Amino acid sequence: MSLGSHTPVLLQAAVEGLRVRADGVYVDCTFGRGGHSREILARLGKGGRLIALDRDPAAIAAHGDIDDERLELVHSSFSGLHDVLRERGIAQVDGILLDIGVSSPQLDDGTRGFSFRVDAPLDIGWPARTSRK
Ligand SMILES: C[S@@+](CC[C@H](N)C(=O)[O-])C[C@H]1O[C@@H](n2cnc3c(N)ncnc32)[C@H](O)[C@@H]1O
Repeated sequence: MSLGSHTPVLLQAAVEGLRVRADGVYVDCTFGRGGHSREILARLGKGGRLIALDRDPAAIAAHGDIDDERLELVHSSFSGLHDVLRERGIAQVDGILLDIGVSSPQLDDGTRGFSFRVDAPLDIGWPARTSRK
């Protein structure tokens, strides 16, 4: 199965709004295919940190070519953000991005139940809490 691609919405404007500090700690609550996360990483310095969440296991599996020790991908709903940060000893962050909705691959994959063209049971993925560094 192709993991698909997604064109991030308002990429520059959204990340510009975070005013990324080189050594800051940021959260991308809706990783998707990582478009916004890549842009945040491009603006972070060596000491920066990005925690990225997605409740869809397919999004976590499709982390693509991002191999960056400043990024931690966590399979979780953003409703669990408080616990995700607490478990990592993070009491404060410098910015949080939410790009709420569905990503293109979720619409393209008829088996997920999001497609308008194919009828299938809705599969929104369960928010197990696992992390991939
Ligand atoms: C519009 S896409 C994000 C695209 C992403 N910004 C990018 O550049 O590739 C929205 C994502 O939010 C995820 N999502 C939806 N509800 C969520 C929730 N409650 N917690 C975490 N992620 C969620 C979806 O699985 C989807 O991957």
